[in-house]
Amino acid sequence: MSVLLACDVGADEAAQWRAALGAALPGERLVGTREGADDIDVAIVANPPPGALTGLPRLRLIQSLWAGVDRLLADPTVPAQVPIVRMVDPLMNAAMAETALWAVLALHRGFFRYARWQREARWAPHGQRRAQEVTVAVLGLGQMGRAVALRLAAQGYRVLGWSTRPAAAGGIETQAGDTALDALLARADVVLNLLPLTAATRGLFDAARFGRMKQGAGFVNLARGAHVVEADLLAALDGGLLHHAVLDVFQTEPLPADHRFWSHPRVTVLPHAAAQTDPRSAAGIVADNLRALREGRPLAHLVDRARGY
Ligand code: NAP
Ligand code: GLV
Repeated sequence: MSVLLACDVGADEAAQWRAALGAALPGERLVGTREGADDIDVAIVANPPPGALTGLPRLRLIQSLWAGVDRLLADPTVPAQVPIVRMVDPLMNAAMAETALWAVLALHRGFFRYARWQREARWAPHGQRRAQEVTVAVLGLGQMGRAVALRLAAQGYRVLGWSTRPAAAGGIETQAGDTALDALLARADVVLNLLPLTAATRGLFDAARFGRMKQGAGFVNLARGAHVVEADLLAALDGGLLHHAVLDVFQTEPLPADHRFWSHPRVTVLPHAAAQTDPRSAAGIVADNLRALREGRPLAHLVDRARGY
């Protein structure tokens, strides 16, 4: 098969991908440009520029190297009839669980506040809650959300999960559907977002939603920036409605240098690094999918275009 690698990444990362995929796909023709476009069977993509997948008459599969496919689905030039599979890697889920645990632990124990006070040379130990006294709402119980919920529960947190369809997750209390959300938010000391970005979830976190959260709650967004109305989040932080926000993703990335999030004392910024696709494990996952395609077996983690994830 001829495989096009269309990734919007730097030269070093592109070279890493070429090496890892080349080793995992011996015998396949791996190309980095659209030269010979008539022969391309599979496109392996990470945020390809608009138009990168047009004019490929033989294209049978689009493999996303990202878990979230919102940008791909928003691109009208991506051929609608070609199946898309997304990256699902247990090691990536584990990385997300580490980031979530760090954020929740730091919120729970007030470590972000201590970091702020260090800059003021302020010595002021405050009281300490137990993990069992802290309720965390995990929104989205898919690959990432489930790994996060289980990790937090194992650490002793009271975890509430939320998804579209009823889901079981290792004894964790879960709720489904829109009406359950507000009650769940009202109970949570920390709200952690791991929903996919779809028409139903865009702008979910707005002034009304922040207003329904527990006074002084922490907010962690590890999913997509467009889930959040950023001006409303700033107002909720400034007004004391929320205690602190940990943000990995933003409406505009990279986060513009003059954005208030950078300097806001109650915001911790990460550069979209909560869980990165790692070529060392992901290349093998891609290779498994290509073998399935070649052998006519079912493809793993097909994207449902109607649902948007
Ligand atoms: P996934 O396996 O598709 O899981 C999505 C979850 O969200 C499912 O539990 C789904 O519930 C739920 N959901 C979807 N729409 C919903 C709605 N309208 N209301 C309630 N629940 C809804 O996705 P994933 O692999 O866990 O990834 C989640 C997102 O994380 C990705 O889309 C991506 O944006 C983000 N991500 C971020 C990073 C990072 O580094 N920051 C890395 C990877 C992924 P049902 O199954 O019941 O429909
Ligand atoms: C990263 O954000 C991903 O969707 O893989």
